[in-house]
Amino acid sequence: MKILFYMPHADAAAWLHDFARALPEADLREWQPGDTAPADFAVVWRPPHEMLAGRDDLRAIFNLGAGVDAILALEHERPGTLPRNAQLIRLEDTGMGPQMAEYVTHAVLRYLRRFDEYQALQNERRWHVLDPHQRETFTVGVLGLGVLGAQVAQAVAAFGMPVRGYSRGARQIDGITTFAGAAQFDAFLDGVKVLVNLLPHTPDTRDVLNARTFSKLARGAYLINVARGGHLVEADLLDALASGQLAAATLDVFREEPLPDDHPFWQAPRITITPHMSALTLREESVEQVARKIEALMRGETVGGVVSLERGY
Ligand code: NAP
Ligand code: GLV
Repeated sequence: MKILFYMPHADAAAWLHDFARALPEADLREWQPGDTAPADFAVVWRPPHEMLAGRDDLRAIFNLGAGVDAILALEHERPGTLPRNAQLIRLEDTGMGPQMAEYVTHAVLRYLRRFDEYQALQNERRWHVLDPHQRETFTVGVLGLGVLGAQVAQAVAAFGMPVRGYSRGARQIDGITTFAGAAQFDAFLDGVKVLVNLLPHTPDTRDVLNARTFSKLARGAYLINVARGGHLVEADLLDALASGQLAAATLDVFREEPLPDDHPFWQAPRITITPHMSALTLREESVEQVARKIEALMRGETVGGVVSLERGY
């Protein structure tokens, strides 16, 4: 079977080496512009239109990440880019769950214990004890209870804060109070002290982190966005921080990445910025998962992680 690989800024030789070990019978090559030779599978991250357009021989496209918004944007901008008969399959966890749980738990505990404010006091050489936040009312709300959101919700709940979760369809997770669908959105938000975003970026979820959403949270709430920059209305965040409706935000993802030098977020003392690193694609785990799914597809079996083009995730 023939496999095309494309992942900009990655060590392609190392990926191809690992794929060759996991699938010794495969004929693997890195896609280069102009390559239209036959292929059965494509393994990609943020591929250009030319790589996929017209490739009706492809059986499946494996997305080397959890979010498929970039690849679906190609189809949206130029309908027909995605080959008609190819399934689009995303990574399912592959080590991202524990990374996301660490990142979000760290951010939540930093705010619970006011380490961000103690850092500011230290910068002024001030020795001063702040009133602690009450754990019992430090409610954490997780938007998205999928592969990553469910793990994050459970990791945070282990520290004893009340945790809520929000999804499209109804979910049951031990120790988490769950809400589903637009009709329950406001009830989910009501009084939340830390809002964590782990939704996929779709037409339904774009701009969901906006002034209205912030207004439903507890006064002085915190925002942690680890999903996509397109979820956040940036001006609304700055306004909510200025008014005190939000106390601080931790952002890993941005509308434009890398975040431009002149972006106001760099100058906002209550915004913590990381460069889209909350859950990295891990080579070993990803190669193993994709290889086993390719084998299953070759045997005619179904696999998990197939993206619904209608839902957008
Ligand atoms: P997933 O398993 O597909 O889970 C998505 C969750 O969002 C599901 O619970 C789904 O509800 C819910 N959802 C989707 N649309 C909704 C809507 N309109 N209203 C309410 N809930 C909705 O995805 P995942 O693997 O957890 O990943 C989530 C996102 O994290 C990715 O799409 C990606 O953008 C982001 N991510 C970021 C990084 C990073 O480094 N910053 C790394 C990996 C992933 P149902 O359960 O009802 O389907
Ligand atoms: C990273 O952002 C991913 O979607 O895997």
